[in-house]
Amino acid sequence: MNQVRVRIHPEVRGPKVERYIYSQFAEHLGRCIYPGIWVGDRKSIPNDDGIRLDVVDALKALEIPALRWPGGCFADNYHWMDGIGPREKRPKRHNLWWNQSESNEFGTHEFIRFCDMIGTEPYICANVGSGTVEEARSWVEYCNVLVETNMTQQRAENGSPQPWNVRFWGVGNELWGCGGRMRPDQYADLYCQYANFMRKTDPSVELIACGSSSRNMEYWDQIFLERLFTHRLDHGGPLIQYLAIHHYLGRELSDLTYSDSDYYSLIQELDKIRQHIEKAAALCRAYSTPDGPIRLIIDEWGTWYVEAVTENGLYQQNSMMDAVFAALSFHLYHEYAEDIFMTNMAQTINVLQALILTEGPKMCKTPTYHVFDLFKGHKDGERLPVDLVAPSLPHVDGRSAVSASATRAAGGKNQLTLSLVNAHLTSPATVVIDVGASASRVEGRILKSDNVRDHNTPDQPERVVPSVCDASQNPDGTWSVELPPYSVASFDVSI
Ligand code: AHR
Repeated sequence: MNQVRVRIHPEVRGPKVERYIYSQFAEHLGRCIYPGIWVGDRKSIPNDDGIRLDVVDALKALEIPALRWPGGCFADNYHWMDGIGPREKRPKRHNLWWNQSESNEFGTHEFIRFCDMIGTEPYICANVGSGTVEEARSWVEYCNVLVETNMTQQRAENGSPQPWNVRFWGVGNELWGCGGRMRPDQYADLYCQYANFMRKTDPSVELIACGSSSRNMEYWDQIFLERLFTHRLDHGGPLIQYLAIHHYLGRELSDLTYSDSDYYSLIQELDKIRQHIEKAAALCRAYSTPDGPIRLIIDEWGTWYVEAVTENGLYQQNSMMDAVFAALSFHLYHEYAEDIFMTNMAQTINVLQALILTEGPKMCKTPTYHVFDLFKGHKDGERLPVDLVAPSLPHVDGRSAVSASATRAAGGKNQLTLSLVNAHLTSPATVVIDVGASASRVEGRILKSDNVRDHNTPDQPERVVPSVCDASQNPDGTWSVELPPYSVASFDVSI
């Protein structure tokens, strides 16, 4: 049994942990949109005008702050006007990157309606790779402008007289790869052109530029920002609000047949994403100006195992390893709360590190879903300093067996959220929680299982679910809790 001590300092006010860190990404890829969200007139699956209700109920409960759509690689192959107007008249297209047919049944109106149903903010990624400046600009007009124009009239005729005021807009996706194999300076020139017209159409939109991935982090962001900066000086106004990087991990591992050393190697890989964040965040700071701060977004991240290939629509299973990985990633993002504005885990349903897996009319919530649920209390909280005394995690350099992160509820309320992860595969831990002032209540929930490879399936959806895990008070006013191996827990602490 590992002995761990966690001292939280509730009196020290830290940076805000933006709620957008808990955002999601859904692409027209594999079974994410069809039938993960959209089932059309398939009566066997309960739906509201095509949108499946079991998935809506599950996602609504998570209070996901923002949802990125329609891609991914698909975004630079998507022409948004294909997806408006009477559904039966919408053209069928070939989804180039994911080699599947695109019916265009799920378009802008359906996406906005889905966002409303689950209580999330839309984040739309415009087509730069194969689209035009006017196409992206008119999408902003269609979504956000009130005055009557040809575009806004079409929106009204299609059922939405009021604009939706979409705040977040991506200017293309992975322009260095599927988005057009561009050079960073080339993208910067193009970005400037798109941003100029998109922000002129609605100056309140916040634009997200395509940043680097793990493969080109050494040069892409630096060259792109440097080049863009010359445009900013020329034109005077800030054209970029966010730089978005992508980072997937676990590319050589299997979703369920991983070895213990594979498990630890995935945790070790978190160092790579830390390096990526540090590098990109430093550049965002360097190129920020008083009238134009640039903050960091990680708008694609998560595990991507060998099972997830184009042929199966990037489908993979999701076990307790994914839960531990997600929780440790969120602790890492909390550490960089000053820099990171948003992260969008890939992808919401049936693709990569999904929250939900569906099979016909059945569905299940994955262990990753439950981490999003357990960590809800952190959103918009102020990060608190935590002193951690814990033994090291075997086979992983520089990491403790137990990880902790604490936030104080927004507005200085006397309510803290403390999340704990015991990443050790064999040793349970006794954690003593010391909040300094006497905590009057420490109530929690824990995600644990008998085997780290345990997972849920639509036929067995309740194998891995959180259970109650309250801490017990010690005579000295501290609290104690037992964490089994590979478990994730979250506590509401009243002070
Ligand atoms: O999330 C799957 C794919 O990964 C996205 O379409 C692309 O942007 C990235 O390479």
